[in-house]
Amino acid sequence: MMAASDAAAFLTYTTKALYLDDGEMAVIDPEGVTISSFVNGERKTKPVYEINWQPGEESKGAHRHYMHKEIHEQPDSCTNTMRGRMLPKEGLVKLGGLEEVADRLRGANNLIITSCGTSYYAALYGEYLLEEYAEIPVSCELSSEFRYRDAPMDEKTAVLAISQSGETIDTLEAVREAKRHGALSLGLVNVVGSTIARETDAGVYLHAGPEIGVASTKAFTSELVALNLLALFLGRQRRLSPSQAREILEGLEETPDLMRKVLAQEDKIVFLVDKYIEAENYLFLGRSYQYPIALEGALKLKEISYRHAEGYAAGEMKHGPIALVDPHFPTVALIPQSSTYEKMWNNIEEIKARRGTVIAVASQGDPQIATLADDVFYVPKIPEPLAPLLTVIPLQLFAYHLAERLNREIDQPRNLAKSVTVE
Ligand code: AGP
Repeated sequence: MMAASDAAAFLTYTTKALYLDDGEMAVIDPEGVTISSFVNGERKTKPVYEINWQPGEESKGAHRHYMHKEIHEQPDSCTNTMRGRMLPKEGLVKLGGLEEVADRLRGANNLIITSCGTSYYAALYGEYLLEEYAEIPVSCELSSEFRYRDAPMDEKTAVLAISQSGETIDTLEAVREAKRHGALSLGLVNVVGSTIARETDAGVYLHAGPEIGVASTKAFTSELVALNLLALFLGRQRRLSPSQAREILEGLEETPDLMRKVLAQEDKIVFLVDKYIEAENYLFLGRSYQYPIALEGALKLKEISYRHAEGYAAGEMKHGPIALVDPHFPTVALIPQSSTYEKMWNNIEEIKARRGTVIAVASQGDPQIATLADDVFYVPKIPEPLAPLLTVIPLQLFAYHLAERLNREIDQPRNLAKSVTVE
C-alpha cells in the first residue's frame, strides 16, 4: 500500500483520486488530501506537500541501473539544491526553511550533527566546513550511538539531522531525544513530508529528486552542497564577510560543470576496474575534507561489489592499517591540491616503499603524482572545501563498474534496504 503522504505527493502531479488499497481511497483538492475508508466511511485530511519532482524522474531511462542514472544526474541534482538559494553578488544565502529560527541559530553555542551511513560521512564533511566558515563548535554523532548516550544539550544547542529518506529510525529517535532536551532541531532531508522533515523545528530540503538505488550517490553530493549553504548562512551570521562568501558561492556555481567533466572520463574508470578486478581488498585514504570521502568510497565499494574495503584518515596509517599493505591490496589515495597535499604524498611514498599499489585521485595540472602512483585519475582544480564534490564521483563509478563486472544486484544489494526504519 502506498503511504498516505506518498499518495499526496503522487497525486499532486497525476490524478485527482487514487485507491490506496482495497479499503481506502484518496481524493485531492486544494485543501488537502482526504483519505476515506470504504469500510466504515471514516475520513481524515492530510496536508499537501509540494514536491518538485517531475513525472518520469523515477524511470531508469537509457541507463542499465538507477545507480548509474543517479551518478550521472549529479550536476543537475546539485544545481537543484542550489537553485534560488544563492545571491553571489551580495555574498548571501537564502534558506527559507531557516528564517524562523535564524535568531536562535545566531545564539547557538554548538551544533551536533547526527546521521547514519553515507549521511554520516556528509556530516563529517560538514564538521570541517562549519568550523571553517562559521567558527561554531561542531560534533558529529552516529545516530545509533547518540540516541543512547547522555550527551549534554540545552536550548542553546542546535542538532542537525541529515537523512536522504527522512525515515531512518535511529536519526529520527536522535531528533526526538534532542527535542526532549530543549535543543533546536534541524533537518537536512531529501524526501519532502518525511517524518524527520515534519518533526524537526526547521530545515533545508535537498531537492535532489527521487533516489531509488539503495546505494546513495546524488543525495550525498546534494547533502554536501546543502551543508555549504548552511555553513555560509551561519558563516554570514558569525564571521564571514560578503566578499569571502561571494568567492565560495562562485566556486559552488561552477561545480556542476566541473562534475560533468569528471563524468565524461567514465571510460578511465572502466579501464581501472579491468586492471584491479582480482583485488579482494581495498584501502581508501584521505585527509581533512577528503577523509569523509575515503570513508564513503569504501562504503560504496562494500555495499554493491561485496568486496572488502576500509576507509581511513591517512594520518592513521602508521597506527595499524599499514600492516595490511602488499602488492595485492590496492590503495585509493585522495590527493587533490590542498593544504594537506605534502602529507598525503608522504603517505603514498610509505605505501610504495612496502610494494603496495596506489590509484591516486589528483588535480589536473599535477604531473608529478604520476611518477609516484601506479594509476592516476584527474579531476579539475577547485577550491579545497569543494573538491569532495568531484573526488567522490570516480569512487562511485569505480564501485558501480566493479559491481557490474561481478554481476551484483546493483540497485538492490543483498541484505540492504533503502530506508532503515527498524533498529
Ligand atoms: C548509503 O549508500 C546507504 N544505503 C546507507 O548508508 C544510508 O546512507 C543510511 O542508511 C542513511 O540513510 P538516510 O540518509 O536515508 O537516513
